[in-house]
Amino acid sequence: MIRYIFSIAFALLTANSFAQNQVVLNADQGKEIINKNIYGHFAEHLGNCIYNGFYVGDTNKIIPNTNGVRNDIIDALKKLKVPNLRWPGGCFADTYHWKDGVGPKDKRPAIVNRWWGGVTEDNSFGTHDFLNMCELLGAQPYLAGNVGSGTVQELTDWTQYVNGKPNTSPMSTWRVQNGRKEPWNVSIWGVGNEAWGCGGNMKPEYYANVFRQYATYMTDWSNSDKLFRVASGANVDDYNWTEVLMRDIPHNMMEGVALHHYANVKWSEKGSATDYTEQQYFATMKSALRMEELVTRHSTIMDKYDPKKKIALVVDEWGGWYEVEKGTNPGFLYQQNTMRDAMIAGVTLNVFHNHCDRVRMANLAQTVNVLQAVILTSKEKMIITPTYHVLEMYNVHQDATMIPVKLITNEYVFGTEKLPAVSVSASKDKEGVTHISLVNIDASKAQDITVNVNGGKYTVVSGRILSSKKLQDFNSFNDPGKIQPAEFKDAKLSGNSLQVKLPPFSVVVLTLK
Ligand code: AHR
Repeated sequence: MIRYIFSIAFALLTANSFAQNQVVLNADQGKEIINKNIYGHFAEHLGNCIYNGFYVGDTNKIIPNTNGVRNDIIDALKKLKVPNLRWPGGCFADTYHWKDGVGPKDKRPAIVNRWWGGVTEDNSFGTHDFLNMCELLGAQPYLAGNVGSGTVQELTDWTQYVNGKPNTSPMSTWRVQNGRKEPWNVSIWGVGNEAWGCGGNMKPEYYANVFRQYATYMTDWSNSDKLFRVASGANVDDYNWTEVLMRDIPHNMMEGVALHHYANVKWSEKGSATDYTEQQYFATMKSALRMEELVTRHSTIMDKYDPKKKIALVVDEWGGWYEVEKGTNPGFLYQQNTMRDAMIAGVTLNVFHNHCDRVRMANLAQTVNVLQAVILTSKEKMIITPTYHVLEMYNVHQDATMIPVKLITNEYVFGTEKLPAVSVSASKDKEGVTHISLVNIDASKAQDITVNVNGGKYTVVSGRILSSKKLQDFNSFNDPGKIQPAEFKDAKLSGNSLQVKLPPFSVVVLTLK
């Protein structure tokens, strides 16, 4: 008999789920808004992101398009509610001379895209194409200016070209001649990209001075309060970079400081995007979860110089980075997207939500056919990835009030290493509806979670889940609907307590009313 009880106890302990995950949610204590710009995207002249991705050419009769931009991509991104789109790079931005990309297309000069595959860039997709595309998407443009190989005059001219009232300056007159009367009123501007690397290999003190100079001339003085200028930020944990920028750049000249961090197994052995081991998965999750530490530490430095949090931390490049798909150009960074990427998206967005007082903008790298893409194309075909689905499920949090959460989680153990298995964030939208996003990154164990909801009364819970049979599953051109959200039925509400069971490697968004 004793043996029987023991074996039941043992069986319970080793069963596929444990009960000690606890979430406490203080629904009446939300103060900060989750800025929708955290859901920003990134489109670089890199591989098949712009050409053969977004843009198929305005004379294309095979793929339905609007002024050369694929209609299926426009529709998919509108559903995603993309709030802003960063362009033209990345590293490419610091080699890009915007004047090459305006005016009659047959007169535009061709250049070599020396960062990405050494291919010819014919400049057929330029400023008008991008800004008009943003209007179609309903997304705010985020223009990254060329500081590495450009000039102050060039960036000044660009701001006047896109923002100047019609015919009030040589630049705005040129814009009108090129077919666009009204200004686009672009607010978000990057002053260079990765200035510590491909943007000029600068030291932070030098870049801070360069930033001051560029930022001075980016305005015609009538619109300085309307510009959101983002300083090229730190590489991962280069805390000194943030410290110097916050110390040396006057705070009335800079509205955001950037940060770049990619999740990977190891830079020297990035591994396949689809054919990976649990060890590689665990390493990727560890790298992705590092975003919590990075955001916390960079924010602490910013708090020292800017306690009122006027300046935003802008994570304008994040996502998973693996080896390119076999047989593709290594300079094109084309990779498939599996449930591992869904996990990266879920946990990273939860980090951003929970730090929304400082993280007010972010850009997933990159939208189409590059790195952790939400869309993949192949000639006339287009598919959406597991990452797309997470962003779509999560977009209920855009501009909602963040609800502070407390979490006690089981560990996801692999060998001698451990990670928190569960990640969570919550918000209340303008209609008073509460949404809770939960992720279980454990590759094999389900998680039972008790969620105590304080400060609110709810009678109904519903939910959506993204999961799949295998961690390595992905949507392909032959099976585009393999992974898609489904109704989630494993949440039971009783009073102010919720019992939830999350399958292994799954993302769930709950709606409480
Ligand atoms: O997103 C790909 C590249 O990664 C970007 O061009 C660059 O900024 C970063 O190093």
